[in-house]
Amino acid sequence: MSQKTILRALAGETQAIPPVWMMRQAGRYLPEYRATRAEAGDFLSLCYNPDLAAEVTLQPIRRYGFDAAILFADILLIPQALGLDLWFATGEGPRLSTITRAHEVARLKPVEAIHETLSPIYETVRILSRELPRETTLIGFAGAPWTVATYMIAGRGTPDQGPAHAFKAADRAAFTQLIERVTEATIAYLSAQIEAGAEVVKLFDSWAGSLQGADFHDFALQPAQRIIAALKTRYPHIPVIAFPREAGPRYAGFARATGADCVALDNSVSADWAAAEVQKDGCVQGNLDPKLLVSGGAALETETRRVVQAFSKGPHIFNLGHGITPDADPENVARMIAAIRG
Ligand code: CP3
Repeated sequence: MSQKTILRALAGETQAIPPVWMMRQAGRYLPEYRATRAEAGDFLSLCYNPDLAAEVTLQPIRRYGFDAAILFADILLIPQALGLDLWFATGEGPRLSTITRAHEVARLKPVEAIHETLSPIYETVRILSRELPRETTLIGFAGAPWTVATYMIAGRGTPDQGPAHAFKAADRAAFTQLIERVTEATIAYLSAQIEAGAEVVKLFDSWAGSLQGADFHDFALQPAQRIIAALKTRYPHIPVIAFPREAGPRYAGFARATGADCVALDNSVSADWAAAEVQKDGCVQGNLDPKLLVSGGAALETETRRVVQAFSKGPHIFNLGHGITPDADPENVARMIAAIRG
């Protein structure tokens, strides 16, 4: 059995004190992150600079001693590696050239070509696997195909993923081809991260909740299942965390259906419900409302303890229900960790 607390939780062990990390733990709420991003020039230059990307990955580990480090990169690097233009408009979030017709799906670069763009990311992973403390687990990641496709189709974040739903309704065959291309690219990308030293991988399906009925099965569950099956064939010992955000009742059974070792929960589901219906199949992660790290106070400690308590009877990794926001107070993160570790 590994000494690493995160790997123990992912292997199904119940621990008296759950290991902890945070989504977006390397981010704008930290002054040292903002300084390194300024040194890099902008967000994408930071992602593609292995020394600086490794540095920002390590910053929250040094400051807080989290049990896991998550590779610093972004889910939108895959669309860029497949040939779309990508840029970040300051204060506005990501922008991409769009895919709206079948022939544009056919024009994407072949999967083998992605490594040309993504090789600096693998170098970041190699640096981290040398430099992380021995007790810290290194998590690699990718966006899940549906979430990545929503950005490829709309060219930006959208409140209801309308353009992606419209494309799916207008040309389901072309839409399915896009999902398949992203699925294959994701398998290649995560495999390369594992080869470089990632010990766990996580699939972010931030917009899974907007898929209804059979679409949830076809475009959230099935691609995750395919990716996990391919990874498990090559790397049977590498645990996978799936995050079908806002899946609601469909969180139940998601791990069994996809082969994921852990399901990450957003903060819209009840912890007691998830302990009964999701944790029965294995490790769970998440659920604390990230807003509490902005507001702090007694509620932060009460809610942190409530999440720890709710999941205390099974394998659990403490985390937030979504990424920490730039307006969070770094002191509140220390208070949250103190409440977990007692
Ligand atoms: O969690 C981590 O610390 C690892 C790094 C990471 C980032 N993005 C860095 C980032 C991870 C795992 C992601 C995932 C990601 N990126 C998701 C899925 C998770 C989620 O939040 O739902 C999505 C949808 C994206 C796409 C993306 N990247 C958006 C919509 C934005 C703009 C919103 C924002 O917070 O600014 C980004 C930018 C981004 N990705 C930042 C960071 C640290 C902020 C960029 C900056 O420094 O200005």
